[in-house]
Amino acid sequence: MAHVERISRRRLLGSAAAAGIALPVLHETVPHQSIHQQLAAASSGGAGAHGATAGSHGGGNSGPTFKDGDVVDHAANGFNPTEILRDFDYGKARRLPGGRTVREYELVAEDREIEVAPGVKYPAWTYNGRVPGPTLRATEGDLMRVRFINGSEHPHTIHFHGFHPPEMDGIPEVGAGIIEPGKSFTYEFEAEPVGLHLYHCHTGPLAEHIARGLYGTFICDPKQGRPDADEMVMVMNGFNTNFDAEGNQVYAVNTVAFHHVNEPIEVKRGELVRIYLVNILEYDPINSFHIHGHFFDYYPTGTKLEPRDFTDTVLLGQAERGICELRFKFPGEVMFHAHKTEFAELGWMGFFEVA
Ligand code: CU
Ligand code: CU
Repeated sequence: MAHVERISRRRLLGSAAAAGIALPVLHETVPHQSIHQQLAAASSGGAGAHGATAGSHGGGNSGPTFKDGDVVDHAANGFNPTEILRDFDYGKARRLPGGRTVREYELVAEDREIEVAPGVKYPAWTYNGRVPGPTLRATEGDLMRVRFINGSEHPHTIHFHGFHPPEMDGIPEVGAGIIEPGKSFTYEFEAEPVGLHLYHCHTGPLAEHIARGLYGTFICDPKQGRPDADEMVMVMNGFNTNFDAEGNQVYAVNTVAFHHVNEPIEVKRGELVRIYLVNILEYDPINSFHIHGHFFDYYPTGTKLEPRDFTDTVLLGQAERGICELRFKFPGEVMFHAHKTEFAELGWMGFFEVA
């Protein structure tokens, strides 16, 4: 990416860092201090710029968490959020006698250290080595067979949102219950209802098992499909890197803080864009999504085919999700972020590059 482009984007963010101005940090009053310290420690020669003058709250949008040109090691992580956006797992599909489709998926729990912001490593628990886990996708009425293999050192399950009998619920002491390390189980159920759902581990302590990274999106498409669109999945998440279970120190969509500031999401002007938006944040009761310069149709949980709202901001509680549909009117860089603005300043912001 050309340097001049990055500068212009940083000017949009009101960056003082681009102009070489030292950024004030008030560690005493900022609850999210851990990431500041870790980023300062990880920064080569940058530590002097952080924490010199006391003043405003963390430096705002151009605060110390925002590091020009510094990105996480995606190869070491084993996944790239840009690829996760449009990566849908339809499973191994085949027709059963009688015409019904069965889809077989495999999810392996795996402990893995991932870099969630430049220099900030987090001991994650993952499905298939990535956070969020694979986006499982099926059409209503399909038979889902999800083989779960626990390759982690901890006991886990998979709990799906959607219709299913209690023995397929993935909770302790019901059905197969907790799946111990080295063990496996196949969850089987019909894909329903139509909509945007999710799955996550349901082993206690529950908040930690989710927050560590054991979650993903489950999309159940209507039989007649939805209009053609450029589709993408945004899982709003965060990381409580100091394990105090009070808020988070890093916020993102699809795990890596500020990723789509460094790599804007490329979209075409006028084309229908469909965002499957999921809030899986733990330790904060609410999250939000806001887009600049545009409004979108909003379908809560995606269960109805008519939008409920036409808006530019939605609030989502834990596990709440919805489909956003829009067409970009203007070329250029369009910002999106949490309108819970402290989350934005700690990583939950990005750009669309409209061409
Ligand atoms: Cu678990
Ligand atoms: Cu849930």
